[in-house]
Amino acid sequence: MGTEQVDQIRRAALGAIESVGDAQELDAVRVEYLGRKGRVKALLATLGHLPEAERPARGEAINALKAELAAALSARHVVLSGAERKRAEARAAVDVTLPGRGEVAGAEHPLKTTLKRIERLFVGAGFEVAEGPEIEDEYYNFEALNIPPDHPARAMHDTFYLADGRLLRTHTSPVQIRHIKKIGGPPVWMISPGRVYRRDSDLTHTPMFHQIEGLVIDEGIHMGHLKWVLGEFIKAFFECELDLRFRPSYFPFTEPSAELDVACVRCDGAGCRVCSGSGWLEVLGCGMVHPRVLAGVGIDPERYTGFAFGMGVERLAMLRYRVEDLRRFFENDVRFLAQFA
Ligand code: FA5
Ligand code: MG
Repeated sequence: MGTEQVDQIRRAALGAIESVGDAQELDAVRVEYLGRKGRVKALLATLGHLPEAERPARGEAINALKAELAAALSARHVVLSGAERKRAEARAAVDVTLPGRGEVAGAEHPLKTTLKRIERLFVGAGFEVAEGPEIEDEYYNFEALNIPPDHPARAMHDTFYLADGRLLRTHTSPVQIRHIKKIGGPPVWMISPGRVYRRDSDLTHTPMFHQIEGLVIDEGIHMGHLKWVLGEFIKAFFECELDLRFRPSYFPFTEPSAELDVACVRCDGAGCRVCSGSGWLEVLGCGMVHPRVLAGVGIDPERYTGFAFGMGVERLAMLRYRVEDLRRFFENDVRFLAQFA
């Protein structure tokens, strides 16, 4: 037995110390080499078999090995416990940059809810739903509705024009014309929801908003039908009796024409900045279809009459939900939208 045996144990022990992954494994290595029944103890026990002369040197070598391994074990222990502490800290730490827990389910936009609600009420009463394009030409948006090029009503519409002369429709009324042309003629019971555009922006106006057009044409249709249908609609929509008024108005495509006002959401009719002091909010325009419009699409105005209306969906939503600024519907503030979820 020579010094190679000491070296061999040293290499094996140092290798094992380096390769362990945690304090527990390290302790097992300590027991294996430096324990009471360990390999270094066993080495010392062999001293007795050596010639006297060799014993001191070998004894010194074994003691040196013992000291070296003890130092290596304690150095490795420091490294391992530091790493363990870091791991524990990482587990316990709060990462403030992570998104919060819990998921918020999205909900339907209040305008969509309102549109669907209005549609359902009219479909239930036998109306058919029609759609038309948001990019229109002057014929459908104006001319066919008895608004010739030099008519002052064109100025009222604050139209967005495209470079090619087409325009973003300023109301859903062009769908009246498209629908009549499509189905050929009376009887007509149609509503048409959709987006419309005007150069407008304040508490009760946005540049894009929604209208629902209504059109009924048949024999014997008169103003009483119009008032009754809209009155019943308002009752069903708001689910209560509301202060409303039909106010005489003017549209080139209806005669006579009226607008329907509902008591203001904010002041209940007293007058405030939302209703410009009038106490009323206008929700729709309506009237008896102008004979010239009927004739223009080949319907005999002597035989058929009709009524039409165009309602502002945002205005109705504003009144139903008591929202004081119509622009809120388009600001996408989740705090506002969450209230309708
Ligand atoms: C019209 O657009 C007519 N086409 C309505 C009509 C149809 C009359 C059929 C007769 C027969 P008016 O411009 O008044 O009318 O608009 C109708 C409704 O849209 C208004 O009563 C209002 O409720 C709403 N409205 C108008 N401009 C805006 C806007 N900028 N933002 C939000 N709502 C608006
Ligand atoms: Mg109006």
